[in-house]
Amino acid sequence: MAIIIDGKLIAAQVKEEIAAEVLKMKEQGLRAPALAVVMVGNEGASATYVASKVKSCQQVGFESIDLHFPEDISEETLLQTIQDLNNNPGVDGFIVQLPLPSHINEDKVIAAVNPDKDVDGFHPSNVGKMALNIPAFVSATPAGIMELIARYKIETDGKEIVVLGRSNIVGTPISILLSRKAYPGNGTVTLCHSRTKNLKEVCSRADILIVAIGKPEFVTADMVKPGATVIDVGIHRIPSTETKSGFRIIGDVQFESVSQVAGYITPVPGGVGLMTIVSLLQNTLKAAKEKRKEGPTA
Ligand code: GUN
Repeated sequence: MAIIIDGKLIAAQVKEEIAAEVLKMKEQGLRAPALAVVMVGNEGASATYVASKVKSCQQVGFESIDLHFPEDISEETLLQTIQDLNNNPGVDGFIVQLPLPSHINEDKVIAAVNPDKDVDGFHPSNVGKMALNIPAFVSATPAGIMELIARYKIETDGKEIVVLGRSNIVGTPISILLSRKAYPGNGTVTLCHSRTKNLKEVCSRADILIVAIGKPEFVTADMVKPGATVIDVGIHRIPSTETKSGFRIIGDVQFESVSQVAGYITPVPGGVGLMTIVSLLQNTLKAAKEKRKEGPTA
């Protein structure tokens, strides 16, 4: 039976560390870090994530600014809002929750964010720096995965690492991070996608398997090498007659069977998801500290 990588426990520890730093800043007479979250429309999953982000800010003593716009906001107005946040000295970092409605160009929105306030790490400048191993904001989910690997002291050096899914937010950045000359890193990384052949065979070579494919319970025990570390990034809400709410949350990995063969595994919920928010808080703290170095008005 695999060791469970407890995202809830690690997230709580990191939050305590952040809260202690915020307290220190306040004792020195500095303003608490401030994070703004921009949301467009009312998509259910996004609304839940945004509410969690705002609540987490409060838990660690950050200021949070919640900006909610209707679904039909124009691209121009959204871009103007981003400029205002870029220019607002009271905001250390901000994010625009994705996905955006189809009439808004996401790439344009991401590129409009000042890279120094881009605590999501989505701006091309931050992605490029990350790839070159230059200090930058690393996007929250990959950063959270790196934190879990480091805190559980999972060996990555020279290991076969297989990533399922090549999204800009998760698969692509984690594949780069784990192949960099660093710890966690120095892995031999294979990035799999819809055109990959012999997927099962590739997966079963992995010492570390990172699954961000967006398909419920896609990975089964026969795809996993005994003793491997399995990181599940998926989150799916499915109907259930066994819960009061009428649904339950599952991941991209069939937990019951895979946990019988894996060495380490992240549960869903209680794994990577909680770490994503914590990484956003870490990035915001970093942005605030950098800004305070700039001078007394910052
Ligand atoms: N949508 C899904 N994940 C994320 C994330 O990490 N940041 C933003 N802004 N939107 C998302």
